[in-house]
Amino acid sequence: MSEALRVGIAGLGTVGASVARVLAEKAAELTRQCGRPVTVTAVSARDRTRDRGVEMSGMSWFDDPVELATSNGIDVFVELIGGDEGPAHDSVKAALQAGRHVVTANKALLARHGLALAAIAEEKGVLLNYEAAVAGGIPVIKTMREAMAGNTVSRVFGILNGTCNYILTRMEDEGISFEDCLADAQRLGYAEADPTFDIEGNDTAHKLSILTSLAFGTQIAADDIYLEGISNITQADIRAASELGYRIKLLGVAQRTESGIEQRVHPTMVPTASVIAQVHGVTNAVAIETDILGELLLSGPGAGGNATASAVIGDIADIAKSRPGFQHGPVFGRPVKELSPYTRAQMRSHEGGYFIRLTVHDRIGVFAAIARRMAENEISLESIVQHANGANGSEQKTVILVTHETTEAAVREAVDGITQDGHLIDKPQVIRIERAG
Ligand code: HSE
Repeated sequence: MSEALRVGIAGLGTVGASVARVLAEKAAELTRQCGRPVTVTAVSARDRTRDRGVEMSGMSWFDDPVELATSNGIDVFVELIGGDEGPAHDSVKAALQAGRHVVTANKALLARHGLALAAIAEEKGVLLNYEAAVAGGIPVIKTMREAMAGNTVSRVFGILNGTCNYILTRMEDEGISFEDCLADAQRLGYAEADPTFDIEGNDTAHKLSILTSLAFGTQIAADDIYLEGISNITQADIRAASELGYRIKLLGVAQRTESGIEQRVHPTMVPTASVIAQVHGVTNAVAIETDILGELLLSGPGAGGNATASAVIGDIADIAKSRPGFQHGPVFGRPVKELSPYTRAQMRSHEGGYFIRLTVHDRIGVFAAIARRMAENEISLESIVQHANGANGSEQKTVILVTHETTEAAVREAVDGITQDGHLIDKPQVIRIERAG
């Protein structure tokens, strides 16, 4: 039997405690699978006294994660602290520089510093594994990095935030308010420490930036993402989507276009019959379209302690199985030097269908004015529906337009024109429609 792989875990929150617990409970099975024992020898967390349901008597305790990261008592440093700077960044960097393998679930850290950290890992010949950073328990990194060699990706898109999908699902199924759904997601441990990162799309954007790099062989460009969250989605949008045969999902989408790569995160209407529309609750899904494989859709638990721990443990097991000279490929699928610079396609040139919901004064000429603005911008309409708001004789009406494929620039011009015409009572709502099988 080979020597045990010695694991140090920094951060003993929901995920960290779950990783430590499962590694202990499944020790015999993991030893059989990895060919050697995998043992947690050291940990670091903020509060030493908290009961986490894990037997820690045989483990060394470090108050400082950087000291743990560089300790001679570990072979693998598992970073579950979170945050893109401070102790998470300092400890991962120190661990790699000290020649330790690293496993992290930290998408924000990778989105911000992934290339620099990958360069250190390459130089030191160690592994930097991050399966849990994207889509929780779904093995999408392994799939893209290892199983899709030779495929040319044209589009990757997905539901990458469990909190948002949980909120949108419950809003649709139960008519519950956005705030109540968010509170439940926080209580269940799905949401980030700052839930605005979930609901405003930043968490999805971090994950998308990693997928984009793997998909297109480009440098990570987390700041070059068009971003809209779900906080302005109302019951009116959800009901209208349902009447029109759509569901609203927060999608992260990256696609190759003639002018560069489009990276966008926004509420999206997907056909109710599409596979991705069936992904409910905290479940995540990632669709990858390639020339050789066609379309692949992976779906599974995207948030929560055990699901995330499963991905972390898979990464640790890969390290336990790896031998010098026979290691997995580069961190982002290609050596850092061979990742090409990211060229951003402008959002204004995005092409697709659009849902536009307008709350207008009920008076003669409004419909005609809306139709004129659409025609002026060469937008062809697939459907136009008018609803009375409230009681008969109400002064306001809702007009819902669904466009055929057009451009973002044309829609913005048309909506600006309608706003200038002075017929609107409320802010216009525009939601993009995504092609999905
Ligand atoms: N807050 C994240 C989510 C957790 O809701 O999906 C996993 O990154």
